[in-house]
Amino acid sequence: MDAVTTTAEVVSQTDDRIRRLESRLVREFHDVPPSIVHEWIERARARFGGARLQDYVPLFVAREVRASARAFPAQETPGTFLSSWARNTARRLLAAELPRRWAHTAGVARRAEHVARVLPEEERELLVAAAWVHDIGYAAELTDTGLHSLDGARYLRRAGVSERICGLVAHHSGAAAVAGLVGLADGLGEFPDNRGRLRDALWYCDMSTGPDGHPTTVHGRLAEIRQRRGPDDPVVRALAINGDERLAAVRRTHRLLRQA
Ligand SMILES: [Fe+2]
Repeated sequence: MDAVTTTAEVVSQTDDRIRRLESRLVREFHDVPPSIVHEWIERARARFGGARLQDYVPLFVAREVRASARAFPAQETPGTFLSSWARNTARRLLAAELPRRWAHTAGVARRAEHVARVLPEEERELLVAAAWVHDIGYAAELTDTGLHSLDGARYLRRAGVSERICGLVAHHSGAAAVAGLVGLADGLGEFPDNRGRLRDALWYCDMSTGPDGHPTTVHGRLAEIRQRRGPDDPVVRALAINGDERLAAVRRTHRLLRQA
């Protein structure tokens, strides 16, 4: 057996051990989304992959990932891991391909950071993260059904993101009415639609941010949607069904902001 074959075999054995390690760590840290565990593993492996003694690479990787996982819950505060992951994911999917959608997304997230103060502490990070990823379903890589809220939510579920965020994205800004018009109500029904302040706040942030990311009024936003999409677009037709619900969510959040 020559040296090249031996090296390839060693790398392949290390790959197998790393994949088994990943399964173990995902089970061990079930509060951490699997995609994040995967990201930590790849990062650690990039650091230690060149080690002369390949036998030790899984040990080094495991030690590093465990340290990150132990710090994970403590990091779930505004502006940290979850929202960073959401921001990076949205940037990767939207910034180059759909710059205007990316500008809108960044505007919605800025709004969310401001609005989060009216929510209980445990929901603030969820709002900011959901704001970052609420429109990722427009990216070509994710397009499947063509209903962006559903395609985005399914992607997030595959990535191991919490059902709460998946549900927020699936149903944001009156998506159920659009899904009903395009025959995707059953698909959207795969996701929970938890009504409440968090859901209202995400709708408010989306409805008060224009397509270029600038703040706007809800009536200005609705007029812009009608004008940009035209009367036959399902999103515009759905306004007859979900318009009042959108306005009510905005009003409720507005009231909370005034009281804060
Ligand atoms: Fe949006």
